[in-house]
Amino acid sequence: AGKATASALAFTPIGPVDAAEDAFVVPQEYEWSTILRWGDPLFDDSPAFDPENPSAEAQEKQFGYNNDYLDILVDNEAGTHALLCCNHEYTNRGIMFPPDADEEEVLRTLMAAHGFAVVELERRRAGRPWRYIQGAPKNRRITANTPFELTGAAAGSEWMKTADDPEGRTVLGTLGNCAGGTTPWGTILSGEENFNGYFKADPQARGNARYGLNDRDSVYGFEKIDPRFDATDEDYRNEPYRFGYIVEIDPSDPTSTPRKHTAMGRFKHEGANVRVDEDGTVAAYMGDDERFDYLYKFVSSRKFMAGDSAEAKANNMLLLTEGDLYVARFSGRQRPDNANLGRGMWVPLIKNGRSRVPQMSVEEVLVFTREAADKMRATPMDRCEDVEPSLKTGKVYVACTNNTNRGTGSNPDADAANPRNQNKEGHVIELTESGNKAGATSFDWNILLVCGMPDQAGTYFAGWDGPVAPISCPDNVAFDSEGTLWISTDGQPGTIGLADALHRVPLEGEERGHVTQFLAVPRDAETCGPVIHDQDGSVFVAVQHPGEDGSWEQQNSFFPDYVPAQQRPRRGEWRGPRPSVVQVTKIR
Ligand code: FEO
Ligand code: CA
Ligand code: CA
Ligand code: CA
Repeated sequence: AGKATASALAFTPIGPVDAAEDAFVVPQEYEWSTILRWGDPLFDDSPAFDPENPSAEAQEKQFGYNNDYLDILVDNEAGTHALLCCNHEYTNRGIMFPPDADEEEVLRTLMAAHGFAVVELERRRAGRPWRYIQGAPKNRRITANTPFELTGAAAGSEWMKTADDPEGRTVLGTLGNCAGGTTPWGTILSGEENFNGYFKADPQARGNARYGLNDRDSVYGFEKIDPRFDATDEDYRNEPYRFGYIVEIDPSDPTSTPRKHTAMGRFKHEGANVRVDEDGTVAAYMGDDERFDYLYKFVSSRKFMAGDSAEAKANNMLLLTEGDLYVARFSGRQRPDNANLGRGMWVPLIKNGRSRVPQMSVEEVLVFTREAADKMRATPMDRCEDVEPSLKTGKVYVACTNNTNRGTGSNPDADAANPRNQNKEGHVIELTESGNKAGATSFDWNILLVCGMPDQAGTYFAGWDGPVAPISCPDNVAFDSEGTLWISTDGQPGTIGLADALHRVPLEGEERGHVTQFLAVPRDAETCGPVIHDQDGSVFVAVQHPGEDGSWEQQNSFFPDYVPAQQRPRRGEWRGPRPSVVQVTKIR
């Protein structure tokens, strides 16, 4: 522990927490509580949580599993009402339901546990903890069966048509939703990431091998109850081409149809974060989280329109449907201490509505985006996770989580922007657009962090040489109101033996690079979706996959209910782990 930081969110940093601890650890001045847990009832007629008896009908009306992206949108002046928006990335059948439960009902329930949730929150006063409102009018669950509208040039193309959707314009569900972003026009973006795990598909069909699709039984087994997940069947061969997009959800209207934007390309989208320039230029930054895949930027062909008018709303809802799509090519210099820097180009794949990729049509570039980027010699990266511009400075932060295959066998060797072979701990790149313009086609970059134990060779903390908290596998990034960066991790237990964490990293001034730890999550969990309301003295995180290495008989985590062994769970509680949204507030 060090001394308290000077900011609206002053805290005494916590020390590293051992990976075996099953505790949610916060600074001494703070306390935590859950806002929503897996299975919490969202509507007036929602059944109570009961994992002993899986029910798809119940799960459709309850909070889903495994939250990654999170935002809390405060929507009244008093700061006492908000919309909680978060996704439900994936499920872990082995720890959720009894092994002998009815297989078909379990699979239906898992499908209902995926997707997205919008839930209204209230509290008595600003700065106090929130509670959710069961049955509130804007509460909504999106599942693996909710209709989505495809937008952009690939919508309606040959690649999108299936037996159920001959027009190629409506897809059921969103799957594998990882990080995301909230737009300046009030919608939520969410990245469809590991969609390949949901399909059985012909590996010889166009693009499938490049996206990790194969003809073995899928990880989740949905093809056993719904034929569209078996793309080896001719009727559904195109179904996997309808996943792997950025989806946009309007949380203000529970009846709105969510959309999948083909103009932003198809890959294992981690998320998307938008920056709007003074002249209204809209850019979205996006990572493809796979070893040796790429960093992308989308620049809308329209300009952002400020204000709440119907005209502004109609305009802004079209911003992500058409524009230029770029992929990053880095060049640069390696320095002895890994304070590397250099230049980069945004290489166009689509520009002014035309393909810039030889022998690929616009539709092909949008559906087989990885193939297009390969052809244009983009720089293979160490798994870009969250990529987010600072709204204070315009600089973009790219979390490269790790890549243990870097420099092994015939794989690419370390380069300036991916400076370590067998990169176990990951790094963070800071990118500055030329002229600080969102629509620039070139950029400068430097390394902000090369992660690891502070005394480990090759680590770099932006030149800061005082004590720092250990940090490994950076994943989600966020900013507080002062522009300070916050980084949450996914994988510290496997690399440095510590529980995953949320860290604070000043970007400017004397303390630039001084990493301090704010919290740690329970056993086997990853820290997701950090939301920093520093003016309000509160921090929110999504605790994803607690106890994931356990089993139904032997659970590995008891978070968040922590029901004592000799006590019966109270109504709505459970002994096993429940992915949850947690709020951390100042003790009064
Ligand atoms: Fe769902 Fe790339 O983490
Ligand atoms: Ca992630
Ligand atoms: Ca983020
Ligand atoms: Ca991750």
